[in-house]
Amino acid sequence: MNIVEMTARPVFWVSCICWVVLLMVMTLVAGEGVGVQLHYRGQHYVIMDNGLVQVTLSVPEGMVTGVKYNGIDNLLETENTEINRGYYDLYWNTPGGSGILDKMKGTNFKVIVQNETQVEVSFTRTWKSSQQGHVVPLNIDKRFVMLQGSHGFYTYSILEHLQGWPDFNINQTRIVFKLNKQMFRYMAISDTRQRRMPLPDDRSTGRAQALAYPEAVLLTDPVEPEFKGQVDDKYQYSCTNEEIKVHGWVSTGSGPSLGFWQITPSFEFRSGGPLKQELTSHVGPTSLSVFFSAHYMGQNEVPMFRNGEQWKKVFGPLFIYLNSGPAGTHGRELWEDANNQMRKEVQSWPYSFPASHDFTKREQRGSARGRLLIRDRYINKEDIPAGFAYVGLALPGEVGSWQTEDKGYQFWNRADFNGSFSIDNVRSGIYDLYAWAPGYVGDYKCNEVITITPGSDIDLGAIVFEPLRDGPTLWEIGIPDRSAAEFFVPAPGPRYVNPLYLNQDRFRQYGLWERYSVLYPDNDLVYSINSSDYRRDWFFAHVPRRIGLHSYQPTTWQIRFNLNNVGQRGSYKLRLALASSALAELQVRFNDLNAEIPHFTTRLIGADNAIARHGAHGKYWLFNVDVQSIWLVEGANTIFLTQKRSVGPLQGVLYDYIRFEGPPTFA
Ligand SMILES: *[C@@H]1O[C@H](CO)[C@@H](O)[C@H](O)[C@H]1NC(C)=O
Ligand SMILES: *[C@@H]1O[C@H](CO)[C@@H](O)[C@H](O)[C@H]1NC(C)=O
Ligand SMILES: *[C@@H]1O[C@H](CO)[C@@H](O)[C@H](O)[C@H]1NC(C)=O
Ligand SMILES: *[C@@H]1O[C@H](CO)[C@@H](O)[C@H](O)[C@H]1NC(C)=O
Repeated sequence: MNIVEMTARPVFWVSCICWVVLLMVMTLVAGEGVGVQLHYRGQHYVIMDNGLVQVTLSVPEGMVTGVKYNGIDNLLETENTEINRGYYDLYWNTPGGSGILDKMKGTNFKVIVQNETQVEVSFTRTWKSSQQGHVVPLNIDKRFVMLQGSHGFYTYSILEHLQGWPDFNINQTRIVFKLNKQMFRYMAISDTRQRRMPLPDDRSTGRAQALAYPEAVLLTDPVEPEFKGQVDDKYQYSCTNEEIKVHGWVSTGSGPSLGFWQITPSFEFRSGGPLKQELTSHVGPTSLSVFFSAHYMGQNEVPMFRNGEQWKKVFGPLFIYLNSGPAGTHGRELWEDANNQMRKEVQSWPYSFPASHDFTKREQRGSARGRLLIRDRYINKEDIPAGFAYVGLALPGEVGSWQTEDKGYQFWNRADFNGSFSIDNVRSGIYDLYAWAPGYVGDYKCNEVITITPGSDIDLGAIVFEPLRDGPTLWEIGIPDRSAAEFFVPAPGPRYVNPLYLNQDRFRQYGLWERYSVLYPDNDLVYSINSSDYRRDWFFAHVPRRIGLHSYQPTTWQIRFNLNNVGQRGSYKLRLALASSALAELQVRFNDLNAEIPHFTTRLIGADNAIARHGAHGKYWLFNVDVQSIWLVEGANTIFLTQKRSVGPLQGVLYDYIRFEGPPTFA
């Protein structure tokens, strides 16, 4: 796409060809040979300029006030004030206090590197004890880097809480770019999730109607009629950490097409592991990188600092990549080019250029590898390779703790079909090795603590995961993969359509929780093990039923199955894996709906809001219920699953997988 990308970089040629040729190449390739420069505009702005891109930053705050590319003076929204165009922010609170938004304005500006090939600037703010209670007790360092010949710029930030400093919580930190709304109308977040987007004005009162919560609106009178009747909600564009590698916006006006992309080569600094979901791009046009948040996990699952705990973490670097094509270039072509660039960035991760020693370089990192096997004698008498398992290193903790871990770094990879895995470029430190494998319930944690040192390459050899299992499978519903996407996902209500999801990811449509009451107006879902098919007959979300306008009532689903020879000795086991829960309580009764005390209850659990936010999964839960044989009968049995909490429509659970195991047949 960019001609310069296809041309060898001059620096590579310095040693082998004469200066004359070098100079010719430099003049041919506009911008490529120009050194990076730092200009000052008055006392309050500094501009990083490599001849291709000019980034203006406010001094000493470190707000990105302008991004100039391809002759366009500012890709950011100039209607916004200068602190509302390109900025880091965080939400924090003192324990028990209410949330405070901090725009992370620097108070000190420093040039860290300035030469022909690289400029790196730093905007810092140092905490003082006199600020206790009203300023977040963190030292902040925001870095911006520009390299020669690069179509964009890098940014990273370092947060530090010194030992003995006050207790606090952070529920979110991120970087935000607000782009020119007239220019950037085409959004792309994956190969298949791309579309022309409504204007931010379309969400205003008079043009839109608020739905169940303010983020979701129905566009009733958009500026362009093509969007009329559509739902707009930023959560429809969430992605998992492992998916967020490149996303962004394209301007496709009458002039040249321009792309603004965020490229994240590694999610090591994001919380919650590979499946945690975060916002990406959405109407604004907004381009986000959320480093951690309560999204799809819950307000109790955010970093909380107590007893003066010391903490320091580097977020990023991420790359803001800009590309262009002649007038008429489709957004999809710039997306393809941005993907090529993303692959290059991934190749060069961990970057060598960041000047901060807190960002550890390749030679300071180590790796771990091995082969993960599954031992489940009820499936195979031999160990089975954990094909395509997720294997990761995260701070030491309980089995499965990685999904809510948010203070350290996490390093994940997928095993190959044969269970072999390697996790590279791991920062030095002490970790637990965690894993889970699609197709098997539960979580694995290696008994050995893993200590990574610079250059270390730890070979763990064969390690064995024994997923929970007491007896043979009598029946199962769904696939144990931490997601409810394989179940029946209804078509959206006619008023709530986002056309992007008519033929993919149906669970991302707005308001599917309302469909349950439409499909099951009087009687709740009944699933017969012998004749039902979970893809057709198991509604993906167990939610309350609406009664009248604003009232809801609990719902009870039934699983009907037959049992021969109910064993008098040895118990049965019900494994209930949930892909999400939001202020729900799931009660289980065997053959007696009226049993006052349920045979099992999860109690009130979860606040991940995955149902409201159109996610097929949030926080994973696994419950193992001992089922006494006296609760069962010879012949027809029914398990009643009651979702007890029903104050509002969004309380409920997503199931991942249910399995009923017979009494053990192995000693
Ligand atoms: C963090 O807290 C603030 C203020 O309480 C709230 O507005 C924001 O939505 C919260 N963020 C998340 C991701 O929950
Ligand atoms: C510019 O500075 C960086 C970082 O210190 C260094 O790696 C690079 O070699 C320098 N380039 C030149 C041309 O001096
Ligand atoms: C799977 O891994 C084992 C152990 O490393 C190896 O012996 C075997 O050849 C591998 N199988 C295949 C098909 O690659
Ligand atoms: C399924 O149906 C068959 C034949 O009617 C019966 O023998 C079997 O027990 C049933 N299985 C379950 C799990 O309901």
